[in-house]
Amino acid sequence: MLGLSFNWANAQDPKKGEALFKDNCASCHSRDMKKDMTGPALAGVEDRWSKFPKKELYDWIRNSSGVLGDASYKSHSYAKGLYASYNNTVMTPFPALTDEDIQGLLVYINNMASAGCAEPPCVAAAADTAGAAAKTDEKEKGSGSTILWVLAFVLVMSTILLARYINSLNRLAQQRSGEALDEEKTFFQIVLNPTVVRILIFALVIVGGYTTVNNAIGLGRQQNYAPDQPIKFSHEVHAGKNGIDCQYCHDGARRSKHAVIPATNTCMNCHTAIQKGPEYGTAEILKIYAASGFNPISNKTPEYGQYFKESVSADERLAVYKKWLVEANKENKAITETEINTQLASAKPMIGKPVNWVKIHNLPDHAYFNHAQHVTVGKVACQDCHGKVEEMKLVKQYAPLSMGWCVNCHRQTKVKFDENAYYNAETKSHKMYEQYHNEVKSGKRNGVTVEEIGGLECQKCHY
Ligand code: HEC
Ligand code: HEC
Ligand code: HEC
Ligand code: HEC
Ligand code: HEC
Ligand code: HEC
Repeated sequence: MLGLSFNWANAQDPKKGEALFKDNCASCHSRDMKKDMTGPALAGVEDRWSKFPKKELYDWIRNSSGVLGDASYKSHSYAKGLYASYNNTVMTPFPALTDEDIQGLLVYINNMASAGCAEPPCVAAAADTAGAAAKTDEKEKGSGSTILWVLAFVLVMSTILLARYINSLNRLAQQRSGEALDEEKTFFQIVLNPTVVRILIFALVIVGGYTTVNNAIGLGRQQNYAPDQPIKFSHEVHAGKNGIDCQYCHDGARRSKHAVIPATNTCMNCHTAIQKGPEYGTAEILKIYAASGFNPISNKTPEYGQYFKESVSADERLAVYKKWLVEANKENKAITETEINTQLASAKPMIGKPVNWVKIHNLPDHAYFNHAQHVTVGKVACQDCHGKVEEMKLVKQYAPLSMGWCVNCHRQTKVKFDENAYYNAETKSHKMYEQYHNEVKSGKRNGVTVEEIGGLECQKCHY
């Protein structure tokens, strides 16, 4: 199994397999390939399918219902058994995956499954530093609970030793006073002594409870989370080096609850003209063209910046893109036919579809957060909550997004009356704010915190 896939690996970009897996499969299949989640652990999957033609595994990944339902697969008892054992859960179809994509996925799956991963196409180790930071974080969390379990063990052992010791002391005392000796207790009698059992259960409840609650609170909350994105969009290039204002793209932040991720139309304001990037050349920008339906060759004609009509098929578009790639990379002698084909292959699944950006920040449904309240009224800088995004090549979640984080800032931050809407008597003036404002003005107060205007009231943040 491994031999085969490592051969493929030479022709494959393992990072792409990783990206595909994260985008499409990780929601149901464990990334360590060893645990069952919604879908089974994928370690050794090629072995399990080795008695069938290779094509069938590929067909399964592209459309599992096809394999289950299609008459030509009638004999596929393995797939049927698997499907039944997963309560007839239907796996999402991925018709856009090419053979090459699937090879890349299988290479990634094998690499992750073979722990240690010493061989070169080692995807896990090649992870960027931000991802590594997130991993270290997970590890730290893990070792935190290990410490607890060790503590529990020590506690239990010392209880047993203590019980034993007390037992011996009792016998000694009885011996001294000449009473009849209790029978010497065996180790098991001591361990099963009711007091020890009670302490043991208590310790287990405490440790178990702590770990469960801790995990539950941590669910969906992931500081330092920095997933790879379908297009290698860099905030460092855009907001940093080129100084583009955050709100040029995230224009929702000023006026609504959500900051909003820009549509490809926004990208195209600049990228009809900027057709090559400093780091990836045409590779990543081609994906924007594929998603938006832009025809980069048409801008050499009078109808500058035309988009493909919907009726133009994916293959026809790819032919145009190929022509463009050859043209655009003319002066770049290093680019080979294979590289051009790789660029085309990774853009192909994105043709005509909105970009599937991976969402990084996720508050639970029961919490209410509004950007406009903070950005427009509160005059809080994006960076206070998101860190120095303009220096990030890959966005990472900077704040913990915990309740404590919100509440602490509300306790410490003073409301900016002079600059915000409350000050304006015509519009929003409210008695309480006016009173506060006058007190601040006359020096009676040195400021009003968000807490004092009600920023710690449960219902302000909870539905
Ligand atoms: C919506 C959840 C879901 C997603 C997303 C998903 N799968 Fe699955 N997968 C399953 C389930 C459930 C099964 C078990 C069979 C069944 O019930 O259909 C399965 C089975 C499989 C199998 C067969 C496993 C075996 O042990 O033989 C492979 C291979 C597989 N998935 C690969 C993938 C790949 C690759 C992706 C991403 C491109 C993916 N899956 C995405 C849910 C999912
Ligand atoms: C040229 C457009 C553009 C500009 C300018 C820009 N962003 Fe973004 N931003 C994006 C895109 C596209 C994404 C989604 C892909 C990603 O996460 O990198 C994004 C994602 C984000 C995210 C993560 C969203 C999530 O998924 O939770 C944050 C936070 C963010 N941007 C903050 C900022 C800040 C702060 C600035 C200014 C310093 C800024 N952005 C400037 C386009 C832009
Ligand atoms: C007071 C803290 C705070 C400030 C200030 C702030 N954000 Fe956010 N941002 C958040 C939180 C919390 C989330 C997660 C929201 C959710 O999951 O509903 C978020 C989510 C996002 C997202 C993901 C999409 C969305 O709207 O959920 C983007 C993009 C984003 N912020 C960009 C910005 C930009 C750009 C600015 C500055 C103009 C900014 N943020 C200012 C706290 C903040
Ligand atoms: C306001 C103009 C502007 C907008 C809007 C814009 N970009 Fe860019 N983009 C640039 C500039 C400038 C460069 C750098 C070109 C250079 O340095 O040669 C660039 C470079 C890039 C690169 C190449 C990176 C590299 O290093 O190879 C990618 C990919 C990219 N942008 C994606 C996007 C995406 C996706 C969007 C929409 C979410 C977007 N851009 C929106 C101006 C913009
Ligand atoms: C960096 C500081 C900061 C952080 C972090 C922060 N806030 Fe705020 N928040 C403010 C400020 C400043 C205001 C006051 C805006 C104003 O003047 O009305 C505010 C106001 C609010 C209000 C309106 C309160 C009222 O009485 O009108 C709500 C609701 C709110 N924040 C929710 C949240 C939630 C939920 C989070 C965490 C996900 C959060 N905030 C994180 C600074 C912060
Ligand atoms: C400034 C905003 C804010 C205020 C005020 C606030 N909460 Fe929360 N609360 C949050 C956020 C954000 C979360 C989600 C944290 C997470 O995902 O871990 C949360 C989570 C919770 C949870 C779930 C447990 C957890 O930590 O995830 C409970 C229960 C809760 N809050 C109760 C309350 C009660 C009771 C009050 C009033 C005394 C209150 N909250 C006031 C923002 C707030």
